[in-house]
Amino acid sequence: MEKLQNDLLLRAAQGLSVERIPVWVMRQAGRILPEYREVRAKAGSFIGLATNPEMAAEVTIQPVDRFGVDAAIIFSDILVVPEAMGLPYLMEEQKGPVFPEVIRSAADLSKIRDANPEEDLKYVLDAIKIVKKELAGRVPLIGFAGAPFTIFCYMVEGKGSKTFSQAKKMLYADPALAHALLQKITDSTIAYLKAQVGAGANLLQIFDSWAGILSPAQYSAFSTPYLKQICDAISEVPVTLFAKGAFFAREEMAQLNCATIGLDWNMDIAESRRLVGPNKTLQGNLDPCALYGDFKTVEAETKAMLKAFGTQRYIANLGHGVYPDIHPDKVKCFVDTIQNYQA
Ligand code: CP3
Repeated sequence: MEKLQNDLLLRAAQGLSVERIPVWVMRQAGRILPEYREVRAKAGSFIGLATNPEMAAEVTIQPVDRFGVDAAIIFSDILVVPEAMGLPYLMEEQKGPVFPEVIRSAADLSKIRDANPEEDLKYVLDAIKIVKKELAGRVPLIGFAGAPFTIFCYMVEGKGSKTFSQAKKMLYADPALAHALLQKITDSTIAYLKAQVGAGANLLQIFDSWAGILSPAQYSAFSTPYLKQICDAISEVPVTLFAKGAFFAREEMAQLNCATIGLDWNMDIAESRRLVGPNKTLQGNLDPCALYGDFKTVEAETKAMLKAFGTQRYIANLGHGVYPDIHPDKVKCFVDTIQNYQA
């Protein structure tokens, strides 16, 4: 068994007692860091960086060195799964991801395959192995994947969108096709997550970034059943579910076989604890925009968050990814405030 010098994140996820609150930051590796931008420039592009295991490992560890966060998260993207299923993506500068081909019909669906992680996603698994070796047990490593519904949104829509109306259209116009695609994504995602654990990931987070565009009934029909399959399939490590905007699904998610539920900043903390019950860990949830405030404001907002969550069964984080124009010293202030907190 691997010996971690700092296992606060894993203990908090498992509901064991912790002497202080663990913290990491969604999108902690990335454009906020000048040292990231340097490596990315060398790689030439986001995809060039993400597919180079040595470089991906380097940028994964950068925030651990700079901020002293209590976990690393492997540098990759949720869109590597559709690519491994035969639907490649491009990352357009300033615009985000684009899929030249999309899934809109049964004929489109028949063209994609189940991902074989050991081959198609070997570069991520190799990066995980390098990170584990270089971290040498300093902190745990988080692996991740997109939730099936969020991946479905990109595979059908073909690009980012405010409404994902093309993707949602399929839920009403051809629900059987939507379910068939969601099941295919789920199967590939489970295989990928298990491969990440095999390579050394200590905890897995599922990002349902577009959960908030669904009605409660649609969420129960098109997202929860697939999250349930993932949670039931993974027993090796704790799983965190983060469904952005799905305030209406908190009670339902609490019934799933996950260790931790991530909250965004729209979700009231005390209400979330009531809805989720005492047997899950909560993660979150400071508004990323709070880090635009001055240091005093960041400290005060962070302390108010900690007071509301308490110190046990809790992992501190933002309520979504840190914005690229936030000064790294504000992130450091957020992390320090949490790590020095006395309840
Ligand atoms: O530090 C970490 O958190 C790990 C890295 C990480 C990235 N993407 C790197 C990235 C993680 C966890 C993701 C997940 C991801 N990717 C999600 C779910 C989380 C969320 O934010 O809701 C989603 C929806 C995506 C899809 C995606 N990737 C979009 C929409 C974009 C463009 C917008 C943007 O943020 O730039 C990306 C690109 C991307 N993924 C970048 C990074 C660092 C920026 C690319 C660059 O460096 O130019």
